[in-house]
Amino acid sequence: MNEEDARAIKITIAPPWWRTWLANGIYAVLLLLLGRRVHLAQQAKTIRLEREKTQARELEQARQIEKAYTELEQTHENLKATQAQLIQSEKMASLGELTAGIAHEIQNPLNFVNNFSEVSQELLDELQEEFKEGDLEEVAAITSDLKSNLEKINHHGKRADAIVKSMLQHSRISSGDMEPTDINALCDEYLRLAYHGMRAKDKSFNAGYKLELDENLPLLKVVPQDIGRVLLNLINNAFQAVTDVEKPEVVVSTQKLLDKIEIKVSDNGPGIPDSIKDKIFQPFFTTKPTGQGTGLGLSLSYDIVKAHGGELKVTSITGEGATFTVSLPVW
Ligand SMILES: Nc1ncnc2c1ncn2[C@@H]1O[C@H](COP(=O)(O)OP(=O)(O)O)[C@@H](O)[C@H]1O
Ligand SMILES: [Mg+2]
Repeated sequence: MNEEDARAIKITIAPPWWRTWLANGIYAVLLLLLGRRVHLAQQAKTIRLEREKTQARELEQARQIEKAYTELEQTHENLKATQAQLIQSEKMASLGELTAGIAHEIQNPLNFVNNFSEVSQELLDELQEEFKEGDLEEVAAITSDLKSNLEKINHHGKRADAIVKSMLQHSRISSGDMEPTDINALCDEYLRLAYHGMRAKDKSFNAGYKLELDENLPLLKVVPQDIGRVLLNLINNAFQAVTDVEKPEVVVSTQKLLDKIEIKVSDNGPGIPDSIKDKIFQPFFTTKPTGQGTGLGLSLSYDIVKAHGGELKVTSITGEGATFTVSLPVW
């Protein structure tokens, strides 16, 4: 071979297309995309698992809440039953207090009935005598005496009847009907019943009590035995509050205002400290020793007064006494 023939042949062997830079670039991109897919898939899986866990937790919580709710419902039912029992026993306890007062109250008309009927028997004997003798003037006088005696017997018999009726009403569980009621008479009746009830329980108990009644009170449409129960509770509390004071006194007053009437029960006992003033109307709140107070009197009274569209309020100066005011609307 000569020089001329010498020719350089440059052979460049190009890498196959799959090893070019471009291919490498594509590989990198594909790898990245794949990585992202895997990452996304994993993320979705984690989220799904999390969600499932949360759901399970929520389900468990819901189950627990339902269980707690059922238990609560059961407890509530039990509580209601107990409360009803307690209210009933409070009624029976106040009935016990009433009975002593009532026995005293009935004794009085019974004495009248007995005395007047005995006197009338003697008068009848006399009448027969005068008949025989023909003294018509005397006969007329005796018959008129007899008539007046019978009227008295009837009057006192009715009084006893009313007392027994009010006792029966007091023990009735369901409340009665609204009827036009003489509130002054109710105050008078229950003040005396409460006083004699206290005396019957404790012979040494003594307290002054008085009525200050507004003579112009209209008849008020109320459930008499319910308002009677309110009065009895307030007056009993007042008498219980004055057991240790020097000159104990309980005053029950009534007053007609523009569109309502007010009944006030005041005592000069120790009063009610501010710290418990907003608690005394709560059911079962009592500061009295077990067995003496159920703490239901004021809450029951509050409910009754509310049911009549009225209000029950208290004012008190510690050391000087307390005044409970019942206001009832005049319809
Ligand atoms: N006139 C009053 N003077 C002082 N405290 C009173 C008076 N009335 C009620 N209270 C207080 O209110 C509480 C609740 O009264 P109440 O509901 O009648 O229940 P209870 O008489 O059975 O204790 C009483 O325990 C007492 O502390
Ligand atoms: Mg009471």
